[in-house]
Amino acid sequence: MSDVSGRIEELKRLIRECDYHYHVLDESLIPDVEYDQLYRELRNLEEAYPDLATADSPTARIGGVVAEGFTKVTHSQPMLSLGNVFSRQEIEAFVERIETAVEGSVSYVCELKIDGLAIALHYQSGELQWGATRGDGYTGEEITSNLRTIRAIPLQLRAPETIEVRGEAYLPHASFTRINHERMEAGEPLFANPRNAAAGSLRQLDPGLTAKRGLAFFAYAWVTPSERVATQAEALTQMAELGFPVNPKWKLCHTVEEIEQYIEWAYGVREQLPYDIDGVVIKVNEFAMQSKLGFTAKSPRFAVAYKFAAEQGEARVLDIELSVGRTGAVTPTAMIEPVSLAGTTVSRATLHNEDIIRDKDIRIGDLVVVQKAGDIIPEIVRVVIEARPEGTVPFAMPTHCPVCSERLMREEGEVALRCVNPGCPAKRVEAIIHFASRGAMNIEGLGEMVAESLYQSGLVQDIPDLYELTQAQLLLLERMGEKSADNLVRAIAASKAQPLERLLFGLGIRLVGEKAATTVATHVGDIDGLLTATVEELQSIPEIGPKMAQSIVDYFATPAARERIARLREQGLRMTALRPKAVASQGEQGPLAGKSFVVTGTLSTLSRADAEQQIVQAGGKVTGSVSARTDYLVAGEKAGSKLTKAQKILADNPDSPLRILSEEAFVALLAESATSD
Ligand code: IVH
Repeated sequence: MSDVSGRIEELKRLIRECDYHYHVLDESLIPDVEYDQLYRELRNLEEAYPDLATADSPTARIGGVVAEGFTKVTHSQPMLSLGNVFSRQEIEAFVERIETAVEGSVSYVCELKIDGLAIALHYQSGELQWGATRGDGYTGEEITSNLRTIRAIPLQLRAPETIEVRGEAYLPHASFTRINHERMEAGEPLFANPRNAAAGSLRQLDPGLTAKRGLAFFAYAWVTPSERVATQAEALTQMAELGFPVNPKWKLCHTVEEIEQYIEWAYGVREQLPYDIDGVVIKVNEFAMQSKLGFTAKSPRFAVAYKFAAEQGEARVLDIELSVGRTGAVTPTAMIEPVSLAGTTVSRATLHNEDIIRDKDIRIGDLVVVQKAGDIIPEIVRVVIEARPEGTVPFAMPTHCPVCSERLMREEGEVALRCVNPGCPAKRVEAIIHFASRGAMNIEGLGEMVAESLYQSGLVQDIPDLYELTQAQLLLLERMGEKSADNLVRAIAASKAQPLERLLFGLGIRLVGEKAATTVATHVGDIDGLLTATVEELQSIPEIGPKMAQSIVDYFATPAARERIARLREQGLRMTALRPKAVASQGEQGPLAGKSFVVTGTLSTLSRADAEQQIVQAGGKVTGSVSARTDYLVAGEKAGSKLTKAQKILADNPDSPLRILSEEAFVALLAESATSD
């Protein structure tokens, strides 16, 4: 028993350490697979010995449903908002006010203003007790069970501190895109921006739902007085040491010029950041000075928010175009007069769906306010009603598919209108584009235009037709030269080696995104596992819900899908997962067992890391330098000294086992080894 509890403690410590490195130091301590293994071992032990399971365990992030709604809590100190400034003059005025009040030199901490929601977190002897939203600033809602699901929020600190910290819960762009994509596929209304999506996610009564959203957190305020922390700079450093994620991009400034340089820098990098910021927060560094400056009724005098100007403009709606997506969903897009927003020219704005057009009453001919939503896709904020020309009519969605003229359907509870004709050309072309896309089979050179002309020419009606294309056929297409035709044939052939997860994603099954495809493929292992899986089986896979399980089973039940798979199988596609669960550590076994590889140069169909991973999966070994004992040198484009060395070894010793493989030969070898195991 004490062995078990010792191991549990060790696992908790290891996982906590990994989480800390990942969320605070922004680096991975161990590969994901190993992390998953540790996590699983801990969960299994805790299941076997329920007495040893504790609330601070990394496995205990998701708890029960809050049936009654959230309770109100009073904040230890009011959670105020900041005064806003918008110009250089206003910053100068802020600094001047402070420097006259404190009579002396002042240092300031500048931080990014993360666009999320303010959260307070309470720790007792290092353990997370409870957390709350800002609410009206005086009382907030206690949302501990939801906050616990945010992996960036430590359940246990690295020292037994009793403190309150505050910070911003936010939704990274990657999570936002994924959620809206899932919602679009499910016909649910989309979130307008990451901030709204974060707010909605924190208000879920079921923490399991919050957990799925992928929220993150940055700590920015140390609330409980402490002798060790006398400045904001120290607070940020100490919080990171305690295990909180602290945004590393803060800066200590001493002059207005330095503050302005920071703002300019932040404005410049904001589009590259993986989360939204809406400005910069400037805080007096010393806490003693902060107290001296005090508060107004609404906000502290020692800090201000410099807000970036909203990126809005006005333009006329010239037309509303309809496009039919892969799943048949009909999406309207407004074509607008070109207008310059934040340095780029915008001529289209997404309308998401019919409801949005109706709610905002957007009509062709209207003057509208357009805005870059979190700098992602421009959207229409509102119609300038005063400027509506005479004779406009409310926009009506068509009753029939704009491409194939089939009647459109709307499923119960869905917002999106769909074309349900499986033969709709728009859906077919979109399906081919999706299949070839980077996250799926990654067929370079097969974009929108080529897919469209392959379909129009009758060469490709369905995915398997791709694998029967010849260079001669491709040359018949407009704007297709010999070189690109040759490249395309090669890229299509190379995609045969893509693992099952990419194929599964590429098939474009409703609700099945990239991540879910990987999870499912890893669990079922190969295509036969997929073809025979039942809803129950699929649903038992972590993170796969009943709707998705049903969607997968429905897909593979159709004769068209079965025929598609049969043809792809015949054409020699790999159809096994990269890391099947059952054979997680193939290690020394596998078709390439005992063979050593060196990969050099640039590969065009897969990254070097992917290539190396596939070799290892097949049991092979990867080394860094070529020697007489190397079995294969995989030489990509622009291979240099390693290739020269291999050629020399072969010249000196023609009997050497060493073989030099082109990328094509390598891909063929991988495909061969995948079918032989
Ligand atoms: S300090 C007294 N620092 O901006 C308020 N706030 O109105 C102290 N925010 O409600 C807030 N990033 O939600 C601070 N680095 C940062 C921030 C930040 C985002 C939010 C916060 C606050 C609002 C200011």
